[in-house]
Amino acid sequence: MKVLITCNLPKEVIGTIKKQHHVQINDEDQPMERKRLLQGVKGKEGLLCTITDQIDIELLDKAPHLRMIANYGVGFNNIDLKAATVKGIPVSNTPGVLTDATADITFALILATARRVVEGDKRNRKGEFQSWAPLDFLGREVSGKTLGIIGLGRIGKAVVRRARGFEMRLLYHNRHRLEPSEEKQLAVQYVDLKRLLIEADFVSLHVPLTDQTHHLIGPHELELMKPSATLINASRGPVVDEKALVKALKTGQIAGAGLDVYEDEPNLAPGLADLDNVTLLPHVGSATLETRTKMAQLAADNLLAGLRGEIPPNCLNCDEISHRSKSV
Ligand code: DGY
Repeated sequence: MKVLITCNLPKEVIGTIKKQHHVQINDEDQPMERKRLLQGVKGKEGLLCTITDQIDIELLDKAPHLRMIANYGVGFNNIDLKAATVKGIPVSNTPGVLTDATADITFALILATARRVVEGDKRNRKGEFQSWAPLDFLGREVSGKTLGIIGLGRIGKAVVRRARGFEMRLLYHNRHRLEPSEEKQLAVQYVDLKRLLIEADFVSLHVPLTDQTHHLIGPHELELMKPSATLINASRGPVVDEKALVKALKTGQIAGAGLDVYEDEPNLAPGLADLDNVTLLPHVGSATLETRTKMAQLAADNLLAGLRGEIPPNCLNCDEISHRSKSV
């Protein structure tokens, strides 16, 4: 069958797909331009795409033979899942394999922001480290503080496991409350969003981007946070109203922010890059060689299973598709 792969993947993974199908690949380390993507998808049965590709109705209409969409990424807000479901096309993502890498980067952001790691590095390179002084260049302690986790799924729980090593008090807010036994095992306490924002020293976001989570953190929520608090976002940029965040950081309404994702990626909101109290990473939550290789393998496994007519291991809409076909 004919397959479009929109992003560069490890050679072995491409080799496996090529053994079974005719492959067209974008082997530049840059997203496929929209025009090329719309052109490339024509006549294809399989699509292995990634989080920077908009898989919407316009694209789906150009690919009437599409039988499988395998997303390289756990987040799938780039795909119109409803439209794909109506067309009976299975869609998969890559959960699980990037949990640890993303939890690690969350902790890197917590520590880097609280202890001013990037600012310190810059200061040193500029020759501004003249002497040690008791009250110079103070940051904020992480150990023993309160961490508020919004979204306690796989990644949120992996952040909890790391935070326990720092003896942090752990609050969480989630759509569904965990079973009491799991809360006990993780040593987490469920609170409403307001209380979490009021009490946490670090607020960390781990929700998917949906209509309900768009701008979940806006002016009102930032106002509830302590002036000494730090906001961490390694989920999706539009979960935070970035303009409101810049204002809160500038006026000292909150102390700092550690961000891996942005509202209008790869662009930063005006004023964000001028602030010293933010750590700004370029969406690298899953960017380790090991994790990115596993993601590629998983995306390929899903693609190949879908093209064989099997249920892909990480299908997001297969139940819905079979339900729809039974009811037609
Ligand atoms: C994902 O998989 O959704 C991540 O954002 C990629 O780093």
